[in-house]
Amino acid sequence: MAELPLHSFLAERGQMVEAALHRCVAGLAGIVPDELHAALGNGVIGSGKRLRPLLLVTACEELGGEVGETLYDLSASVEAIHAYSLLHDDLPCMDDAALRRGRPTVHVAHGVRAATVAGGVLIPWAAAWAFESALRSGCGEDAARRIVLLLLEAAGAGGMIGGQAMDLLAEGRSLAEEELERLHGMKTGALLAASLEMGAVAAGAGDDEYRAMGAFGRRVGLAFQVMDDVLDATGSAESLGKRPSDAEHAKSTYVLLLGVEGARKRGRELIAQALSILDRAGLAAPRLRQLARFVVERRR
Ligand code: IPE
Ligand code: IPE
Ligand code: MG
Ligand code: MG
Ligand code: MG
Repeated sequence: MAELPLHSFLAERGQMVEAALHRCVAGLAGIVPDELHAALGNGVIGSGKRLRPLLLVTACEELGGEVGETLYDLSASVEAIHAYSLLHDDLPCMDDAALRRGRPTVHVAHGVRAATVAGGVLIPWAAAWAFESALRSGCGEDAARRIVLLLLEAAGAGGMIGGQAMDLLAEGRSLAEEELERLHGMKTGALLAASLEMGAVAAGAGDDEYRAMGAFGRRVGLAFQVMDDVLDATGSAESLGKRPSDAEHAKSTYVLLLGVEGARKRGRELIAQALSILDRAGLAAPRLRQLARFVVERRR
């Protein structure tokens, strides 16, 4: 699997994720009003790196699990939660962003109400979608329940939304590294780690491999947000598809704490730690290693 260059792998597997996202969103047609359906479709479909679903599928595959349409369906549930997090993150009451993935944000295109409700619709939908696709993939009820719990805990108060709350409260303050690590680990690391853990459960992996995926994912997830901070400080709306705004919102970031070069270095150290977790667990996982390196080498 790892012979394919990373960009071809991302493009090829990204199309499979995209098809699964279409199935996931199509399931809501006729349940929610058309206008709302258009808003949430806009938030989910079309572009994005699709890193979280790709990690889920790759973890499952490299731990010996089967990769088929239902696994991609399961991966769409993580991306649906991610899409909701972006819809809400961009709202005027949060980061007040008008550009995302090179396009007007959902609240700019469809209004604040539609974007807010669309985000809310996606949360229970993603959970139900995860449960049903895990069952369809044949992993059994216990594993399916575990998978949904992983997704909801990562999205919840101890994970993404808790981290988002801390991020807003930290505006105008300069957090110590320990606090910032906790904040970033929650707002971004938790969902990324859960993607890998969900892939491990779907593969029927043993406890050691499952734990290794979680530990690897927490390092990679933290590095991902550290690099997001670096890109906000060094990129442009054209290169990123979103307008840099951390400084103007006085966000607590790794760049504020360590400077651009210090933050880059921290990101690379975290990836080195993540890779050594795979070494210690005796996991070759060549594609997961490539994806981990991509996190700190990416330009958007
Ligand atoms: C952006 O996530 C929000 C963060 C958690 C940093 P991504 O950089 O994965 O955004 P897309 O999905 O590729 O647009
Ligand atoms: C958002 O972090 C993390 C989420 C959970 C959505 P940011 O606010 O830095 O993400 P961007 O830079 O807007 O994508
Ligand atoms: Mg934010
Ligand atoms: Mg933001
Ligand atoms: Mg950012």
